[in-house]
Amino acid sequence: MALFWRAPRLLTPFARCLVDPSPHAPYLSLKDVPWGTPRVFFVLAGGFGVFGPKCQCIVVVGAQWGDEGKGKIVDVLAERAALVVRYQGGANAGHTVVKDGEEFVLHQIPSGILNTQTRCAIGNGVVLDPQTLLAEIDELERRGVRVAGRLSISDRAHLVMPYHKALDAATERVQRIGTTQRGIGPTYEDKIGRRGIRVGDLIFGKGLSTRLNDRIQSANYDLERLGADERVSLQAHEEYLEKMAPRLSSMVVDTGLLTAAALRAGELVLLEGAQGALLDVDHGTYPYVTSSTTTAGGAAVGAGIGPTAIDGVLGVVKAYTTRVGNGPLPTEADEKSAQELRKLGGEFGATTGRPRRCGWFDTVVAKYASRINGLTGLAVTKLDVLDTLPTISVCTGYTLDGQEVNEMPAVPDVLGRVEPVYQNFEGWLKPTSGIRRYSDLPSQARVYLEWIEDQLEVPIFCVSVGTDRDQIIQR
Ligand code: GDP
Ligand code: IMO
Ligand code: MG
Repeated sequence: MALFWRAPRLLTPFARCLVDPSPHAPYLSLKDVPWGTPRVFFVLAGGFGVFGPKCQCIVVVGAQWGDEGKGKIVDVLAERAALVVRYQGGANAGHTVVKDGEEFVLHQIPSGILNTQTRCAIGNGVVLDPQTLLAEIDELERRGVRVAGRLSISDRAHLVMPYHKALDAATERVQRIGTTQRGIGPTYEDKIGRRGIRVGDLIFGKGLSTRLNDRIQSANYDLERLGADERVSLQAHEEYLEKMAPRLSSMVVDTGLLTAAALRAGELVLLEGAQGALLDVDHGTYPYVTSSTTTAGGAAVGAGIGPTAIDGVLGVVKAYTTRVGNGPLPTEADEKSAQELRKLGGEFGATTGRPRRCGWFDTVVAKYASRINGLTGLAVTKLDVLDTLPTISVCTGYTLDGQEVNEMPAVPDVLGRVEPVYQNFEGWLKPTSGIRRYSDLPSQARVYLEWIEDQLEVPIFCVSVGTDRDQIIQR
């Protein structure tokens, strides 16, 4: 069985095109396939290299509950990309990039922004909070990162208004999802309810006041219904938007068109996801999820391109598991082990500062994430965090009332009741953060990584061993 999936592993180089300077280097031909490999599997496994030199557009997704280290991976890959497009979520995201020891936390701006030659776009699938975006731009510029002229915003992205944030906070008191209170849910509700206000309406539209007035009245009605004391006013919102519009306007374009043009020009494009597969509004641990499609299926929609433009999906997984907010987390460790992981991994939310819940790597979750995203490569992060642990546990499956459960249950109560089945791995008890070659990793670390790879049947493309940009091992 292992032989069958090792054929797709040979396709790993298609992801390498983002780091390999020669434009045609990554494309495999049949002559690269070792003798003995059933060639039909090589062809069926993807065949990008067989049928044409196409490896231009890669999606980067979180394959757990968010905070897997997507920001770092996107920053590393963006070195070769011409354009990075964020395709969903909003200021709920916190993507950390460390460059030369300096830490940057990005919420709405794509994590490619620290690569000065890379352009960045906020796609139509994002819900845009103008105030925090402008603060983020100012902070980057203050720290010497030029954003002007490099960042575009979709005219179709929906605006997060102050009333959305008030509604998020008020709803949270009743629903207790543990949201980031950045107004994400209420803004997506308005989008789907066809009453949202988009960036284009603000910059190019007419008659915004009447629509805004309707929304304010409705928000006040909802705030009262939810028992909140806060009320919002039309005047404050008008003043707010008047202040934001002039600075936003120069960045507003049709980012789908921009992305299509980059692809047509043969440029490399990264589509950056936020959150993680288990927070996806359809596939996650509903209702303890965010309100967008975090999985790769949402990338085409949220970037405004066709799905056929996407050539590969890189799933980012931590070498263990974390979650912020409420909802089931089957492999959540006991308080002592959780505290140790939290301390070793610095597991505090990049957006809200909340301590992250910590536990062991969950293969059921990762396999599920692989299936619903169609992962073609893996980036395993934070391996170094496990360096000092004598034993590392991994969940191989669940049991529920004495029955084996190997697929993700749909209902959170069921997931909350499953018992994880663990396998223990010997720790390597050596520092890995200085290692740059896969073969230099301790053998126990390689056993651990290859076990994950075998279980997921997805090749590992890179392993991250520290926060800094250069602390990465390409496979
Ligand atoms: P994201 O939301 O997926 O981009 O992830 P976050 O930035 O919220 O959280 C990941 C955290 O882990 C950040 O503080 C990163 O600097 C850090 N990080 C990323 N990769 C590694 C790694 O390989 N080792 C260690 N020790 N930290 C890492
Ligand atoms: P990045 O992109 C981790 C979680 C919240 C809450 C749920 C819903 O940094 O990985 P929301 O504010 O989106 O309505 O909250 O989703 N959540 C995240 N958890 N990383 C994130 O983003 C998250 N964005 C939202 O904690 O449980
Ligand atoms: Mg994060």
